[in-house]
Amino acid sequence: MAREIYVVGNWKMNHTLDTCTSFWDDLEGEDFHPNVRAGIAPAMPLLHISERKSTAPIDVYAQNCHEASSGAYTGESSAAMLKSIGITGVILGHSERREIYHESDALILAKMKHALSADLQVIYCCGEPLDIRKAGAQNDYIKDQLEASLLPLDVDQLAQVCIAYEPIWAIGTGETASAQQAQDMCAHIRSLCTEKYGKEAADKLHILYGGSVKPANAQEIFSQTDVDGGLVGGASLDSGSYMELLQIAGKLME
Ligand code: 13P
Repeated sequence: MAREIYVVGNWKMNHTLDTCTSFWDDLEGEDFHPNVRAGIAPAMPLLHISERKSTAPIDVYAQNCHEASSGAYTGESSAAMLKSIGITGVILGHSERREIYHESDALILAKMKHALSADLQVIYCCGEPLDIRKAGAQNDYIKDQLEASLLPLDVDQLAQVCIAYEPIWAIGTGETASAQQAQDMCAHIRSLCTEKYGKEAADKLHILYGGSVKPANAQEIFSQTDVDGGLVGGASLDSGSYMELLQIAGKLME
């Protein structure tokens, strides 16, 4: 079955208002393939760029949200707040949030449930560290991660989730997983979802690869059977290379 290709840029803590605006200017009026879903996740202070959706068809995602709907949580933002300014979804479970901010699977699951209940899409990230990959234990590691923070969702919640497999050893390192490694893990993730949710739901699921995706390797990675696009860090910061990624995805959809 044909799924769309997602090209979502995770800007992390990069860009300011000026450079964000000129990025959107560069993409204004561009025509993407209708089956390519373009998304950018800027930092919180830049999320209002979502107002420009009518001139450039880019979905805007947040990089985080809180698990409660409101309250005394200085510095935090709720899913309802994000929804109210036209945000499409939120990235949760990213390895940088897990490692630097000690986000547990339980917290990630709570955030996911909250975001989904506010009708946000969730891009749920999972991925193994280098020592696990070297030991050949990556499939069990990802299974444990999914069991703890994804598979407790019900099938209706899953329909609003996109999964991003991001091996930690390939993030920002220039070292990309091979297309085969990406395919093998995305197929493993899909089969775990098939076991829990059935084939129909798992076939509809979008599973992205993230970790040093760039125009030079995107075509091979995005053309894998179980890989439905990319969650892209560094190569999404520049409008030219991001546009190239969208064009590569568009060609694969023809
Ligand atoms: P890079 O593309 O810079 O490796 O980052 C990947 C990533 O973490 C996207 O969420």
